[in-house]
Amino acid sequence: MCGIIGYVGADGALPIVATGLKNLEYRGYDSAGIALNNGTVDVFKQSGEIDDLTLPAEHSATCGIGHTRWSTHGQPTDANAHPHTDESGDVAVVHNGIIDNYESLKSELSSHTFTSETDTEVIPHLVEEHLSDGDDLLSAVEATIERLEGSFAIAVTTSGQDGFVVARQDSPLVLGHGEDGNFVASDVTAFLEHTREVSYLEDGDVALVTGADVTVYHDGGTVDRPVQTVDWEADAAEKGGYDHYMLKEIHEQPQALRQTLSGRLDTVTGDVDLELDLPEQYLNSLEEIQVVACGTSNHAGQYAARLLEQFADVRTTVEVASEYEFRGGRDPWRTLVVAVTQSGETADTLSAMRRAASAGARTLAVTNVVGSTAAREADDVVYIRAGPEIGVAATKTFAAQVATLTMLTVYVGRQRGALSGDRASTLLENLRRLPGAIQQVLDEEDATREVAYDLIDSDGFFFVGRHLGWPVAMEGALKLKEISYINAEGFAAGELKHGTLALVTEDTPVLAVLTDGAKPDQTLNNVKEVESRGAPVIGVSSLDDTTKYLDVEFAVPDLGTLEPLVANVFLQLFAYHVADALGRSIDKPRNLAKSVTVE
Ligand code: G6P
Repeated sequence: MCGIIGYVGADGALPIVATGLKNLEYRGYDSAGIALNNGTVDVFKQSGEIDDLTLPAEHSATCGIGHTRWSTHGQPTDANAHPHTDESGDVAVVHNGIIDNYESLKSELSSHTFTSETDTEVIPHLVEEHLSDGDDLLSAVEATIERLEGSFAIAVTTSGQDGFVVARQDSPLVLGHGEDGNFVASDVTAFLEHTREVSYLEDGDVALVTGADVTVYHDGGTVDRPVQTVDWEADAAEKGGYDHYMLKEIHEQPQALRQTLSGRLDTVTGDVDLELDLPEQYLNSLEEIQVVACGTSNHAGQYAARLLEQFADVRTTVEVASEYEFRGGRDPWRTLVVAVTQSGETADTLSAMRRAASAGARTLAVTNVVGSTAAREADDVVYIRAGPEIGVAATKTFAAQVATLTMLTVYVGRQRGALSGDRASTLLENLRRLPGAIQQVLDEEDATREVAYDLIDSDGFFFVGRHLGWPVAMEGALKLKEISYINAEGFAAGELKHGTLALVTEDTPVLAVLTDGAKPDQTLNNVKEVESRGAPVIGVSSLDDTTKYLDVEFAVPDLGTLEPLVANVFLQLFAYHVADALGRSIDKPRNLAKSVTVE
């Protein structure tokens, strides 16, 4: 997730675009840049935070576009920072999204010189080709986006152009209509201090934005996109109108997952493209995968371990990273150590990874942050592409981790010959349907809130699940503890009766993850065990006919091995609304940090 902004009008563009970028900083902050157009285009860009961007004290341009970056392709370097230009430097582009087919486009443009590793850079080169064929900027952008596969929100300006052209496909873009000029941005926060009159672009829209006018085109004709007045304050706007970043990030999951999966699945052949090149011989001789991770990432690892054993036929263990040194390091030459870490900076995880590497194991980082320490130090890396997560309690990154690790399972299983194309296709087809299934759960938020409000006076909570539902039960309990400060524990459904059942009373509700493929009859027996002790039971279920055992049931759509991941979204919303009802500091819970960089 990156942030883009553009302004054209009567005022100097430099301060407006620079402040707009600062307002968008929460969308990405590893590099930034601005292109100013006063007849000729000047570009200022570099890696690092927006405050560190070297800009001129003054500039006469009244048109400018800017970008703050959250890397997906290429490290956060000066060269990879946006805006990107063609060879002449006349065409400047800022982009949020991922161009899936950039490699084939790049090889088509073999006579052009590229200076970055980004997917974006193909865009100014394609625009330049059309401009040199005599097209105006609007037609050149329209012709360019016809060639692009993937997701994009772009703004393009060129020397001699009044204003800029913008286009959107599967990435947000909003126009701002001011008295002294017009704006475009990834969201309204960027320009809220200048105008509250906005219109939202839709997929396939292209707009020509000048100081005097905004014209939106769709399928060759002009269209009207209604102008609305935003009444949010800046703080709420940054959170997309939600009260907390955590809630915004829970709701962002369908979009984040589309980005995670973009260009990586072939549901027909059952293959995945993770830009990962582990030698086939190495994978075939692999005896064990050891996942090292902490907190929520550890739960994602536990989910993945069950998939890897089932579909890739490889023994997989999951270690709490801080315990790895006491258990890991067996047979390092035939062990792949997978470090799962959202931030890529967790000291315990880095230490386990380093230990594995020094023992001779190959290491693979699965992380959200391009250029993080884990990404740099591991032998191989796969990015989960969830965009920045601000809430301390991890939500969308857990979903993106499990989705990425499901793809990794398919990759390893296929390479090892353990997974047929048909079974792989089923897994990938479920991944493709995952964003829609999660949206169905999000649409049930009102009902989840009601149940949460009814239970806020409870003494404590238990979460149970079997097989893939177990890591999700642990994650559900962790979420609730982190943000509500109420004690909660997640158990394997069959284990509760071996001791902890003594604690179950009518004041300790039990949340049960009841999903497919995991001995549902036995899990229902476990549910009956707690119900008969008087505990309220809330089931999150994809099974038929479970209602009679449950006080409340939330339905999870059928989605094979991903059903528990969908169920987890109910648990996230539940935790959020319990904590919200109790007035907790949801985005910054007491005693916790987003990334813990000490052992
Ligand atoms: C901290 C955070 C947790 C997170 C854990 C691991 O404890 O509060 O939310 O799950 O670190 O973080 P990582 O960045 O390695 O995934």
